[in-house]
Amino acid sequence: MAKPHHGTASGTSSSLEPLIERVNAFSADHYWDLGKFLVERVIPAALKEGVFAEQMLKRMAEMPGFKFPFSMLKQCQRYYTYYPNVEKCPLPEVFYFELATKVDDSRKRDHYEKQAIANKWTISDLQKKIREDEHARREDVKTRFGFDLKERNIWSVDSPDPRFGKPNATGRLPGQVVANAFFYYTEPGWVIVDPMAGSGTTGDVIDALPYFQDRKYRMYDIEPSDARIRRANILLTGIPEQTGSIDYVLLDPPHDFYPRGTESGFSPATAQTDTLMKLKTILRESARILKPGGRMSIIVEQTAGQFGIVDFPFEVTNLARGLGLASHGKVYLPRHIDVARRPGSPETTKSPLSECRELLTFEKQSS
Ligand SMILES: C[S@@+](CC[C@H](N)C(=O)[O-])C[C@H]1O[C@@H](n2cnc3c(N)ncnc32)[C@H](O)[C@@H]1O
Repeated sequence: MAKPHHGTASGTSSSLEPLIERVNAFSADHYWDLGKFLVERVIPAALKEGVFAEQMLKRMAEMPGFKFPFSMLKQCQRYYTYYPNVEKCPLPEVFYFELATKVDDSRKRDHYEKQAIANKWTISDLQKKIREDEHARREDVKTRFGFDLKERNIWSVDSPDPRFGKPNATGRLPGQVVANAFFYYTEPGWVIVDPMAGSGTTGDVIDALPYFQDRKYRMYDIEPSDARIRRANILLTGIPEQTGSIDYVLLDPPHDFYPRGTESGFSPATAQTDTLMKLKTILRESARILKPGGRMSIIVEQTAGQFGIVDFPFEVTNLARGLGLASHGKVYLPRHIDVARRPGSPETTKSPLSECRELLTFEKQSS
């Protein structure tokens, strides 16, 4: 065999030309057939002429009138090379095309295939998982801890990290916020409780990030969204944990804890008292289950509307103090989505909407 060499697009020998014409006659969606033809006929013929596989595919793609771009030829070559017996494989062919073209590592391809079969994935499930894992890999490379460590006290997050929480879950907290809270406010070996766990972001952060592997967690919610979350209505029955047994509590109350002002017969004073009662209940419960020296973080926001301004971060700090919890940290969480406007325009209410939540952290004092 002649030694392969680099040539020009026009330097294709006449013996290859009929093969190139046949490649150009393939239908654009017959990836596997095209891959087979490239691998079994075109590439061996090119090597005999002293042209490397990659060079041959590039030359063809550059020829005038040739319809396939180089990237597609490469994809077809990979598809056939990795799955020469695709018709005998258990999943539809589209899965193998996706795996061949997106996943380099053969062990990972096998792993995805097994997961797809076991969990009855659709092709979109597979695509989503590959995208998420790629995102996670990039995050891991980007940062020492596997997440975007914030060094200052404004934790701005453009979009939630898809590894944490469920997409489209109402009120889901970006996993980056949760990871940073755990980084700054918890210690190795601590037991973390999330009594209003929503889409399970807390569990996902601890499960997915090796940095937190020695933290333990328990999650509760009035409407559990997965099997890791136990059902509990913490306003009615409290947090199902023993007094003085927990190191850290993360509280992310729902939006409807706060006054809206849209209800008929709305009374600002009653709504405010109602919200404060709820906040007091969950703070009291959190203080009860914490060990001395344990910490609690709560996400809270000032609200404004026709009923005026209520500075809930200030109110919460006062309530916490009364429960033996000393201020330990304060972080601002700017919003990146529009907050629904409450009745009344900024001109009539004379109050701009809040665009920033606060993450307040308290430490339980030894009595
Ligand atoms: C803002 S979401 C929490 C979102 C969560 N941090 C996440 O990242 O997905 C508030 C959650 O509190 C839950 N919740 C509301 N009232 C509750 C109650 N009384 N007891 C327990 N959970 C409650 C809601 O079901 C909702 O999932």
